Amino acid sequence: MSRKLIIAGNWKMNHNAAATKAMIEAFKGQVAEIDNIEIVLCPTFTSLSAGVEATAGTNIGIGAQNIHWEENGAYTAEISAEMLKEVPVQYVIIGHSERRQYFGETDETVNQRLHTALKHGFIPMVCCGELLEERESGKTEEVVSRQIKGGLAGLTTEQMEKVVIAYEPVWAIGTGLTASPEQAQDVHACIRGLVREMYGDVADKVRIQYGGSVKAGNVNELMAKPDIDGALVGGASLKADDFAALLNNAL
Ligand code: PGA
Repeated sequence: MSRKLIIAGNWKMNHNAAATKAMIEAFKGQVAEIDNIEIVLCPTFTSLSAGVEATAGTNIGIGAQNIHWEENGAYTAEISAEMLKEVPVQYVIIGHSERRQYFGETDETVNQRLHTALKHGFIPMVCCGELLEERESGKTEEVVSRQIKGGLAGLTTEQMEKVVIAYEPVWAIGTGLTASPEQAQDVHACIRGLVREMYGDVADKVRIQYGGSVKAGNVNELMAKPDIDGALVGGASLKADDFAALLNNAL
């Protein structure tokens, strides 16, 4: 089963609109020949329009870093599907570990956000991953299984096919520590097995990204694993040259 790689840059709270434009101007020519990887950049909300403008006519898609489940209302600092459609963005990150750790995101809110994202036609990238103490106490599969079962509950098979899952061990995010390709592959295979239990053979079509200190020097060995179908990249996606090198090394 061949799945197109999807490699996304999560810029987190970095790059204002001017920096977004400058990065993309320096970046787009370096990746213009890549047609076998879906390339996505996820700037902060106020930089999304600059991102869409700067990527017009290129092979680069734009995603947001969050989406609220309600259509509108009294939800200070949240963002609605309609607002994101107006930009317009095509992708949304849901349930990043920083949202879970610092902002009270739960499997239940992840699931609500996911349903709204799919209803409005976005391609969601749903994050999961264990803490260091959970890995060290042998709980990785238990934690990831709870996140997948809760986060991906109640979809149709057609919806599940559109979902991208990002496995990001929390201990590997921003730390320079990367899961070994074998460690990552084990969890990716486990996640695909869970999706198969829940939704059947559509699991073979679902793309599972790895995230956590991915860079130009380690992307290739990670992408070579059978159940790793892309990457969600933080630090190494901020600079045009770094991210272009990563993408060019991926295959
Ligand atoms: P990192 O972040 O690549 O800087 O480790 C990954 C992420 O948080 O998605």
